Amino acid sequence: MQFCCFGHCKDVEADTDLTAVVVKFAFSLCFPLFFFLTVLFPFLTPIFELLNIWMFPKSVINFFTKSVKRMKESRLKDKQKHRVDLLQLMINSQNSKETDTHKALSDLELVAQSVIFIFAGYEPTSTSLSFLVYELATHPDVQQKLQEEIDATFPNKAPPTYDALVQMEYLDMVLNETLRLYPIAGRLERVCKRDVEISGVLIPKGTVVMVPTFTLHRDLDLWPEPEEFHPER
Ligand SMILES: *[C@@H]1O[C@H](CO)[C@@H](O)[C@H](O)[C@H]1NC(C)=O
Repeated sequence: MQFCCFGHCKDVEADTDLTAVVVKFAFSLCFPLFFFLTVLFPFLTPIFELLNIWMFPKSVINFFTKSVKRMKESRLKDKQKHRVDLLQLMINSQNSKETDTHKALSDLELVAQSVIFIFAGYEPTSTSLSFLVYELATHPDVQQKLQEEIDATFPNKAPPTYDALVQMEYLDMVLNETLRLYPIAGRLERVCKRDVEISGVLIPKGTVVMVPTFTLHRDLDLWPEPEEFHPER
């Protein structure tokens, strides 16, 4: 088995370190006490840091930090291959001459963005697909309709193409309804960049604004029978 990200692959059998790291990471998610404490009470973060308590095990973070640094070094050494991906764009921006117009990313920020990208690329896709398959299994009528659309779009088991996939309206409806019931991010956070007034409420610059995605997706005023799976909404 291979572990690949940003075009760099590692043999898992040959590297028991990685297996240990992945197991540790999964384990840390099974007992997400500090994860929830940090999410619910962000102001506690400095205290946790002082107590040397981290959301993810230190060894896991070190593993990813080292991997990304190694990838960066190999990219810098190997000038021939010009990949265009997030890592390369971040490296280019670090070395770009136009740093007076924007602040260049530090090495730590580059690692942080890459690690988030690795997790964001793997976990939400598989979780969303699991929920989608679950809803199809518990709603045979929807499954039937979706199968008919698939058979009509790709007759005789034709290989799927991107252009045909984006034409599939019912698939889009099923996917949207799955994401409504099981949003990938239960809530979003954004920092306000300047003072604004919205519907008479002043939001001062620097305020962290939270968008309660999950709550909005199940709001009775917006969605009749919010707990029900109805792709036709
Ligand atoms: C699904 O959601 C996306 C994003 O909101 C939207 O652009 C698209 O029209 C929706 N699809 C359907 C079939 O409603």
